[in-house]
Amino acid sequence: MKALVFDKSKYDWETSKGFELVDIPEPVLGEGDEDKIILKVHYAGVCGTDKGIWNRQAFKEQILSSIDKENKTYRQLGHEFFGQVKDKGLNVKDIEIGDFVACESHVVCNECFQCLNGQKNVCTNEKILGISVDGGFAEYAKVPAQVAWKVDMNKIRPEVAVLHEPFGNAVHAASKVDLKGKTVAIFGLGPIASFLVLIARGLGAKTIIGIEPSDKAIEMGKKLGVDYLIKLTSLNPSLDKEGNKNIPLLAKERLGEVKSYAHNQEVVDQIMKLTNGLGVDVTFEMAGFNDSVNNAIASVRRGGEVILFGLKNGDFVFEDFNKLVMKGITMYCVAGRQIWGTWEITKKLFEDKSNQVAEKLWTVLLNNGKGTILDIKDYSKEKFEEMLKEHPKFIIKF
Ligand SMILES: NC(=O)c1ccc[n+]([C@@H]2O[C@H](COP(=O)([O-])OP(=O)(O)OC[C@H]3O[C@@H](n4cnc5c(N)ncnc54)[C@H](O)[C@@H]3O)[C@@H](O)[C@H]2O)c1
Ligand SMILES: [Zn+2]
Ligand SMILES: [Zn+2]
Repeated sequence: MKALVFDKSKYDWETSKGFELVDIPEPVLGEGDEDKIILKVHYAGVCGTDKGIWNRQAFKEQILSSIDKENKTYRQLGHEFFGQVKDKGLNVKDIEIGDFVACESHVVCNECFQCLNGQKNVCTNEKILGISVDGGFAEYAKVPAQVAWKVDMNKIRPEVAVLHEPFGNAVHAASKVDLKGKTVAIFGLGPIASFLVLIARGLGAKTIIGIEPSDKAIEMGKKLGVDYLIKLTSLNPSLDKEGNKNIPLLAKERLGEVKSYAHNQEVVDQIMKLTNGLGVDVTFEMAGFNDSVNNAIASVRRGGEVILFGLKNGDFVFEDFNKLVMKGITMYCVAGRQIWGTWEITKKLFEDKSNQVAEKLWTVLLNNGKGTILDIKDYSKEKFEEMLKEHPKFIIKF
């Protein structure tokens, strides 16, 4: 079968790039697989995590050490996928051959303190599909049955079914607070934040403000119904991860003349203007940059709520700590999806046609499938790289 992998026996992590398309044997159930299922993968989603692996900027340690432990040379990538059950182990009870399922990407231990106390999303011993165990960028995937979430194909199209996992991230973030009637600011309008826009609206947010540097993402925000869009234009090193145009600015930072972690006063002023000087009720940090975190804190009203979702390795600086505490802000850190609470809400949002969530995911985010579906038969590194550049979200058809 065809699969996309990183193979350490063929490529050095530091000097290579991209995923290898290989032909490997189809997985079969053997001894020790009593709790597993084999899935015929139909679609798999590509996200920022995959981009991090593609560019060798993230997950080196997790991938290399886990394949060593399994005495293998390669990792089958992909953590967002959907398909049909082809075979199941003897202990698998609730899932039948032929069922259509989307997968939770976190494989949890079901034994640690959190797993036993309703917090499986922060399991001490979690493994992640496509990173620390084999994933779903393949025609077939063998996964623990515990990750499978049944999907009713009469109610949802397969290209949307594959979005369960990342969409669930946004559902989890949104469900931390009550959004009904609230004014909300979303910092960073990447794919997960795009989901969040639809969810926040569905949960009754009154006004949604989006803050974003990229024109393409702003365009997407407009189509998804963000009320006010603020383009981040002032120079900040975090905005130049790719192009690195801000070298003079980076030099200035080294001289101590600017602080890359600092909030952007122009943006905060614009948000204050939109809220009659009050600040917004709820801010979501969906980009994972230090300046963005401080923007989210500086824009929320006294007594408001800040949801931290974006990720970055390393240290961040909170500005004006005294003010942060004395503003009486409540801050939440959101990791993964609640198992299965988030999935129940996702199911309702996807299946309820009146909210147009599933329709907008297909027509806007996936552009009616135009340019956003890569048939694995057409895979080449060049094509994949082009799609990574071109689309905030795309899916692979297996
Ligand atoms: N907490 C979790 O469980 C979890 C899960 C998955 C992803 N993430 C993180 O969530 C974030 C969003 O992921 P994604 O895949 O939706 O999108 P992404 O990382 O592709 O998009 C981030 C968006 O933020 C914008 N941006 C860049 N710099 C910015 C700045 N300084 N201020 C505001 N916006 C800025 C970018 O232009 C882009 O549109 C990432 O940091 C990702 O690592 C967290
Ligand atoms: Zn993902
Ligand atoms: Zn656990």
